[in-house]
Amino acid sequence: MPAHYFSRTQTVPSQPFEIRATVRGRDVRLMSDRGVFSATRLDRGTRLLLETAEFRPGEAVLDLGCGYGVVGVFAGLEGAGQVVMVDINPRAAGLAHRNLEAHGLAEVALAMVADGASALGCAWADTCLLNPPIRAGREVVRSLIEGGGGCLKPGGRLLLVARTSQGVKSLAKVMTECLSQVEEVAKGGGFRVLGGTAS
Ligand SMILES: C[S@@+](CC[C@H](N)C(=O)[O-])C[C@H]1O[C@@H](n2cnc3c(N)ncnc32)[C@H](O)[C@@H]1O
Repeated sequence: MPAHYFSRTQTVPSQPFEIRATVRGRDVRLMSDRGVFSATRLDRGTRLLLETAEFRPGEAVLDLGCGYGVVGVFAGLEGAGQVVMVDINPRAAGLAHRNLEAHGLAEVALAMVADGASALGCAWADTCLLNPPIRAGREVVRSLIEGGGGCLKPGGRLLLVARTSQGVKSLAKVMTECLSQVEEVAKGGGFRVLGGTAS
């Protein structure tokens, strides 16, 4: 089976390169590579997620399915006190580690290889940010939503972005099964951001 951006191993040879992303007035340089999600440019859904998120100084953020780490790096630059970034793709997690170090965030952020959030413990995060791997299938996405929700403190928020055409309504239904106050908080360019609160 060919490797995907969400595969545990990549068959395409590594060839790292730099990309730039400007979001919320910040111009950030990031290392990317072949075999990771949206390798050559910031994904439009991720951009909407970052523009929608309310980063609060000192908060604990989970960047679930971090890819090369753009979400966690932005959270760190916006003043998060703790950022945990996980991805099942080791190449992606390695890039995320490299990118957080390059931005001087190694003391507040860490990136690791993990299958979902279940090994990360419960009720420690204020915010979980998720651009789910829709192509990995419904069960993977469901387990990421449930795992991310389980990491949240009571009152913590999970924000998820997805293409409107990729079943946002069914994602909202999954969110309602483990979170309260599930609502659409932003939309644009064919994407929607859903938010839910842990109780
Ligand atoms: C749509 S991409 C988003 C990447 C990054 N957050 C961004 O916005 O650019 C989803 C990410 O989830 C990762 N992923 C897929 N299944 C996973 C799992 N079971 N556990 C952790 N990460 C997973 C993929 O490897 C991929 O990097």
